[in-house]
Amino acid sequence: MGKALEGVRVLDMTHVQSGPSVTQLLAWLGADVVKLEAPGGDITRRQLRDVPGVDSLYFTMLNCNKRSITLNMKSQRGKELFAELVRSSDILVENFGPGAVDRMGFPWERLRELNPRLIYASIKGFGPGRYAKFKAYEVIAQAMGGSMTTTGFADGPPLATGAQIGDSGTGIHAVAGILAALYQRESSGRGQRVQVAMQHAVLNLCRVKLRDQQRLAHGPLKEYPNRTFGDEVPRSGNASGGGQPGWAVRCAPGGPNDYIYVIVQPVGWKPLSGLIGRPELAEDPEWATPEARLPKLDKMFQLIEEWSIRHDKWTVLDRLNAENIPCGPILSTRELAEDESLREEGIVVAVEHPERGQFLTVGSPLQLSDSPVDVRTPPLLGEHNQEIYAALGVSAGELAELKTNGVI
Ligand code: COA
Repeated sequence: MGKALEGVRVLDMTHVQSGPSVTQLLAWLGADVVKLEAPGGDITRRQLRDVPGVDSLYFTMLNCNKRSITLNMKSQRGKELFAELVRSSDILVENFGPGAVDRMGFPWERLRELNPRLIYASIKGFGPGRYAKFKAYEVIAQAMGGSMTTTGFADGPPLATGAQIGDSGTGIHAVAGILAALYQRESSGRGQRVQVAMQHAVLNLCRVKLRDQQRLAHGPLKEYPNRTFGDEVPRSGNASGGGQPGWAVRCAPGGPNDYIYVIVQPVGWKPLSGLIGRPELAEDPEWATPEARLPKLDKMFQLIEEWSIRHDKWTVLDRLNAENIPCGPILSTRELAEDESLREEGIVVAVEHPERGQFLTVGSPLQLSDSPVDVRTPPLLGEHNQEIYAALGVSAGELAELKTNGVI
């Protein structure tokens, strides 16, 4: 079966996480992604190595289904070869620090001159305003995009979330921009510049917290467990803060991940009160309606916990779902890695790597009926130099010379 992006050529100058997450998704959608690295390679090939001398999991889990070439962009021949690659690509993606591609001698004006149909996507930490020149990493984006201020408990420090919303979250936004640009090119015949800032993407994901900032002007946020409010949205622990109250309650045997997150919809209260052994609360005017429960959500979740702590989270999951009550046990990373159904769904995937053997990765969360994903091992550094440079007319002799001179 064909693939959605078959025939689309991506020149991938990304490194670390945000950029590689973009090009890996494009590759899974069927694009031919050629990852261009400095002769020393993407720094993450060597970072957090678990097996000596072998590309790290950081690298292997973000660079599947790509081809790899090396090229020194600071050499004259390197720049010439790069210009050739740009001419034959549909999409260029990069996430260098601000101004790095310009300093290589390839500002947007030059790139579009080389290839007017090129879609040039960049990820930076920030938009063109006051932070434009700053570098950024994951948690910096979380700090400056509204995530850290709203994560944690009111009496504790701001917290980083484990979900990589600054890196891979931005990457998904960039994929959306790139695909839209590709579609617009169908009618305009022209490529365009796609820019995504990590701070913007995180703020987009924190949209509902900015909603609550405005609601504060009209009084306390009653759905929050907090007792006092100032003029900023407070951290609210595990409260959903939305229309339906939720909390993580403890389960047996009381380990660090023996919790289940329970949401109490209006319709769920009657079966829930029965389950927890307090059926009379379904009729009690002090408890029967969402409005009556709102001022005492902490007490409500305490009642639920007095029941849940007597059962393991899987039993609680089954019992609550049998009553159609939305809930989710806190699954540890080990449980996720071992989850049979996630393996069957193709979202936890075992991949064979020529040097490290088998490793686990997260497959594609995008499932298209006519474009199935086949997760393939990431390339070794420069593995495809010969085939890609030969296609540009570089002879075997010159290739050896380029290697000796540090151009590739
Ligand atoms: N050949 C020659 N030089 C190359 C090269 C190549 N193929 N690829 C990169 N380089 C050079 C660049 O030209 C740059 O040199 P210069 O600063 O002299 O112009 C240099 O490598 C460093 O690039 P930079 O991206 O700034 O790396 P860094 O390690 O200093 O910073 C980040 C890393 C992630 C902080 C930075 O890239 C960044 O802010 N990126 C945007 C935001 C982002 O994606 N962050 C998330 C990371 S998960």
